[in-house]
Amino acid sequence: MAKPVVFVTRRLPGGALDLLDQHTDLRLWEEEAPPPDRELLRQAARCHGLLTLLTDRVDDKLLEGADHLVVVSNMATGIDNIDVAAASERHVLVTRTPGVLSETVADFTFALMLAAARRVAEGDRYVRAGRWKTWGPSTLLGCDVFGATLGIVGLGGVGMEVARRARGFGMRILYHSRTRKPAPERRYRMTFLPLDDLLRQSDFVTLHAALTPQTRQLIGKRELGLMKDTAVLVNTGRGPLVDQMALYQALKAGRIAGAALDVTDPEPIGPDDPLLSLDNVVMAPHIASASMATRARMAMLAAENLLAALAGRIPRDSVNRDIARAWRAARRRRLASPS
Ligand code: GLV
Repeated sequence: MAKPVVFVTRRLPGGALDLLDQHTDLRLWEEEAPPPDRELLRQAARCHGLLTLLTDRVDDKLLEGADHLVVVSNMATGIDNIDVAAASERHVLVTRTPGVLSETVADFTFALMLAAARRVAEGDRYVRAGRWKTWGPSTLLGCDVFGATLGIVGLGGVGMEVARRARGFGMRILYHSRTRKPAPERRYRMTFLPLDDLLRQSDFVTLHAALTPQTRQLIGKRELGLMKDTAVLVNTGRGPLVDQMALYQALKAGRIAGAALDVTDPEPIGPDDPLLSLDNVVMAPHIASASMATRARMAMLAAENLLAALAGRIPRDSVNRDIARAWRAARRRRLASPS
């Protein structure tokens, strides 16, 4: 039987592409920028498996023309780039890569939190600009992270690892999530609070909720207004969790003290965006999971999920396993038809 046709939307680190090359008829988008929509549509119409990144939009229009498609394997924890309901309707399995990046993203969340609190990026700019003339008792004073109150919004894998690190920093930990989680609550001595109370009490608020219609602009003008004027907002989740204009206004007016953002809305943020004019904002280009080891693990897991699904197994990381029965029948049909 011919090998299944697979399209991968970018060159990946580690051994994932070699593995796919052994088992599939591999087509690879070689450019640095993501494939344009029409190219993704064209490839999707011919392939059995798609390995996508968070920059690739998999919507109903794409799925409509994807007659042979069995699986979309997303190399990310978040799946907000994929219309999962439309995929389910068309009996296409969707998988993601949770778990393998939690520690790395939690490390980076602390990197950003510390950078904002201790003005690391500002200090770097200050030195490079030749403004460091002497040691000054009041130069670039920041605030302490140790012993401060941390509010974690969204307690999935990353939120949990952030909590574990926060224990080491002697922080008081508050959290808010869809459901209360008694075991980690005890383990990390956390307090569950409604979102408004968490915002009122935290010195640092860090966002780890999945982006869904319910969490879009979770943090807007009203929520920013509840935060302490000394508080810092950290976002390594998804940009649209925050109303970015409201954030700019709150930062500019000093209603909160700072923000540290790995994600923005849109991405990439435009070089003229007003947020970039503020000294109390630390920015990174969506790199929280970008350690060499973790990106290689994410790519490998995405490849393994893809191959498992093509072989008829439903990977643990599938997000729509409820379609199993219809999917199995569709898979057999689609793999049998030439692409
Ligand atoms: C990265 O942002 C991810 O969702 O994995």
